[in-house]
Amino acid sequence: MEKEVSRVKRIVGELRVPSDKSISHRSVILTSMADGISTVKNFLKAGDTLTTVNVYRKLGIKIEENGGVIKVHGKGLKGFTEPDDILDMGNSGTTTRLTLGVLAGQEFFSVMTGDESLRRRPMGRVTQPLKNMNADIDGRNDGTLLPISVRGSQLKGISFFNQKASAQVKSAIIIAGMNAEGETTVEEPFKSRDHTEKMLQFMGAPITVSEGDVYRVTVKTAEKLNPIDVEVPADPSSAAFFAAAAVIVPGSSLILKEVLINPTRDGFFRKLKEMGADVKYENVREKTGEMVADIHVRYSPDLRGIKIEKKDVPSMVDEIPVFAVVATQAEGETVITGASELRVKESDRIKAVVKNLRNVGVDVEELEDGMIIRGKQRIKGGYVDSYKDHRIAMAFSILGLVSESGIKIKDADCAYISYPEFFEHLQSVVER
Ligand code: S3P
Repeated sequence: MEKEVSRVKRIVGELRVPSDKSISHRSVILTSMADGISTVKNFLKAGDTLTTVNVYRKLGIKIEENGGVIKVHGKGLKGFTEPDDILDMGNSGTTTRLTLGVLAGQEFFSVMTGDESLRRRPMGRVTQPLKNMNADIDGRNDGTLLPISVRGSQLKGISFFNQKASAQVKSAIIIAGMNAEGETTVEEPFKSRDHTEKMLQFMGAPITVSEGDVYRVTVKTAEKLNPIDVEVPADPSSAAFFAAAAVIVPGSSLILKEVLINPTRDGFFRKLKEMGADVKYENVREKTGEMVADIHVRYSPDLRGIKIEKKDVPSMVDEIPVFAVVATQAEGETVITGASELRVKESDRIKAVVKNLRNVGVDVEELEDGMIIRGKQRIKGGYVDSYKDHRIAMAFSILGLVSESGIKIKDADCAYISYPEFFEHLQSVVER
């Protein structure tokens, strides 16, 4: 489905964007390994997280849905049952990589596959360390691409350096570590999102975290996990689109309610402030172990270009496409480097952003690991391709709001992967 987004007068009001995708995935995957029933309030109902629900049902877990609340009937660390068919991971990298960590330590055979995009994405970053733990894994391209098969085996602990600072990889190894003999350690050069560690600590897992020169997580063989009750806050990665809109559309003022501001996730908002944007955290509070705030964002006419470097990337990795959109409206150069991970997301996001920016009249330079945007630029408008990538579709919808002739986005319905209500929410806060 094609969508057209055109210039608006301003963005105003309040919005509670959908719940956090990363925490929602974990709230099913981890609680399904608990002994007993967990309750998850405000579970995100979107393409990717519903994939997780389907997959865990196929692995023998009873999951009840009642409005925004789900109940997961956990069956213990090794309580899953052999699926009678191939597991379909859809578009979801998080479901795939975390589930590889789950399945490696079970006592049965399973096969997983995914859509065209997911079948291109690198899985060796998870399957190789799991093989080092004695996992029995095979798949296309020497076990590095889906479809992948796993025959459960007795795992052993390892020490692993998570070079790419990928939270999905870290989480897979930690999960496998709970079913392994001995101790498993994961170290990261830059701390990636820590929801797995936090939730497992909450569930009473034998896991410790230390932060010094490197971030280190240690996990021992787990006997059991306690069921929990969690409430999922609003997703900062979804809030980022509307924050970007309010910052660049003249006269705007928008309050984004109950947004997760965990420091491993709020890099986008911190970088907006560094650019000179009017972004304020109000009513900061804790919600089931995570910090949340209402984020008040106002139009910011004096944005300046800044640098995004490798160390900045993990805490804003999914927000870089929409950050590039904001950068077109900042005075001077915005230089993004150290972001080569973007090339292996749902699409090659560096290529997608650069091509689309050029299509709507922006002068942008592509780098191997990022891009340079020289602002402030006029956005003529035109036709862009989402490459069936939800974050690209939503980022370019936001740019449409300040375009002269509107932006048409190909396959814009892919927004449902993380944010099914995106276009309705956009309608609800624009003034024409
Ligand atoms: C995620 C981690 C990030 C992120 C993805 C969700 C997670 O991926 O891009 O959308 O929930 O762990 P990487 O682990 O590949 O950096």
